[in-house]
Amino acid sequence: MRTTTARAYPNIALVKYWGKADEELILPAAGSLSLTLDHFETTTTVVPAPDASSDVLELDGTLADAGQTDRISTFLDHVRALAGRDDRVLVRSRNSVPTGAGLASSASGFAALATAAAAAFDLDLNARDLSRLARRGSGSACRSIPDGIAVWHAGDDASSFAETVPAPDMRMIIVTVNRARKAVSSREAMRLTAATSPFYSGWVSSTEDYLEQMVAACAAGDFTRIGEITESHALRMHGLIQSTVPPIRFLNPTSHAIFDAVAEARENGIEAYSTADAGPNVAVIVRPHDAEALAEKLSGFGDVRVVGPGPGAHLLTADDEVPPADAATTAAGEGSRA
Ligand code: DP6
Repeated sequence: MRTTTARAYPNIALVKYWGKADEELILPAAGSLSLTLDHFETTTTVVPAPDASSDVLELDGTLADAGQTDRISTFLDHVRALAGRDDRVLVRSRNSVPTGAGLASSASGFAALATAAAAAFDLDLNARDLSRLARRGSGSACRSIPDGIAVWHAGDDASSFAETVPAPDMRMIIVTVNRARKAVSSREAMRLTAATSPFYSGWVSSTEDYLEQMVAACAAGDFTRIGEITESHALRMHGLIQSTVPPIRFLNPTSHAIFDAVAEARENGIEAYSTADAGPNVAVIVRPHDAEALAEKLSGFGDVRVVGPGPGAHLLTADDEVPPADAATTAAGEGSRA
């Protein structure tokens, strides 16, 4: 084993993943498609700790709570099973976005962890198998393994992975209206939706239709169709989520105002379309030459950042290792290095 560091970027879905066919394998009920960003990265270092009795997680310089540590430990059990080893590890992860606020930090987090852990445990995985592995941490993480626009195939354990598809160049404007951790996790909300919404089966079947149309629109370079599907599918997802019992609402009045402002910009000649994940922040896709002007118009709603298609998850060198949280953790971490 060896100490490894990897970096991955979040992705924002243009055709959303909302609902599982298999909870344990994290197989989606329908395929989805996303844009991996070139900002808001997660960098993760995995340090072998062969003498430790449990995994340790340091998140943004602080020891993570039991819930977060259990979730990565369950994921690492899967890596250990693949490697045929039992070693515990110290994971140091640094996010440039707040965790759990709906900007998909779990996607970048598990994509970076999968990439670093696979290398730390000497697993020789191709891109497809690395995407399948990341999927076991968080479904959307499998789409942060490939570059740029990626489609995640529904299917079985072997066939459910993400890969890059051809698409026109575009920019995304991220409008951060709230950085707080969300009250209900995507995982919980997804479960509740499948269990209680009368619209769930229609959502799953219409998502497959939209995905097919979206992949065709991407291949044809048809930005207008890409945008129409993006905005319509996002609103369908939020309608679906609001139809759960008890209802869940992720969008707030500012989110709705941004959707309206983008619709107004469209009427005034800037073609752009909105989407939002499980939180109030809004992501707007736009053609590259219109991005700065629209970002300026949206800057009154919150922090605005223009981002573009980013790279897939990749290993970094020892120079980029995430530093230990403090001196005490340094002693434990460094001392146990393989
Ligand atoms: C709204 O991938 O976080 O961002 O697989 O349970 O970890 P788990 O869920 P997660 O859900 C993401 C939901 C979404 C839509 C999307 O990214 O497609």
